[in-house]
Amino acid sequence: MTAETRDLAALIADVPDFPKVGVSFKDITPLLSSPEAFQACVDALVAASPTDIDVVCGMEARGFIFGAPVALAMGASFVPVRKSGKLPRDTVETTYDLEYGTQTLAIHSDAIKEGDRVLIVDDVLATGGTVAATADLVRRLGGSLVAVSVVMELAYLEPREVLGRHRIDDVTALVTYSE
Ligand code: PRP
Ligand code: MG
Repeated sequence: MTAETRDLAALIADVPDFPKVGVSFKDITPLLSSPEAFQACVDALVAASPTDIDVVCGMEARGFIFGAPVALAMGASFVPVRKSGKLPRDTVETTYDLEYGTQTLAIHSDAIKEGDRVLIVDDVLATGGTVAATADLVRRLGGSLVAVSVVMELAYLEPREVLGRHRIDDVTALVTYSE
């Protein structure tokens, strides 16, 4: 860990037993409340990502917080990937398994052009299901998924195995939790 990522990690609070017993929630609100830390986090996400990106996809809700400023900093389009029923025009959707039940994510059908170079940005990579589902949407629209950049990775959930099965190899996390 660099000094910079140590500073970020210090502003991510562990909240035990939220949203349910046995889960330790990573609360990013202390990080967001510091403009310096938030800016450093966005800068680090940009620095960790490939250049020449056409589209940054951020997933509702916390992916919006980081994806939108990364897109602006890169001079790329920002495309929101939303939970089902929120986007007003024609969409492509995908349903995937959560720990309990399923979730459906949607993207506007015209949000990505054939061959667009796409970066996925989110706050946390946990099981990898959300990123894999987003990659599926990007590819169905003809986009080229170039990389994934996240603030945190819960490595003990082994998300990279899931991502590898979906041919998602260029993945960067600023802060990694091994246990
Ligand atoms: C959370 C988090 C990631 C996702 C990671 O989203 O923000 O998007 O879970 O989990 P996974 O790797 O196991 O898919 P969630 O939809 O729970 O909440 P949010 O609406 O606050 O982003
Ligand atoms: Mg999320």
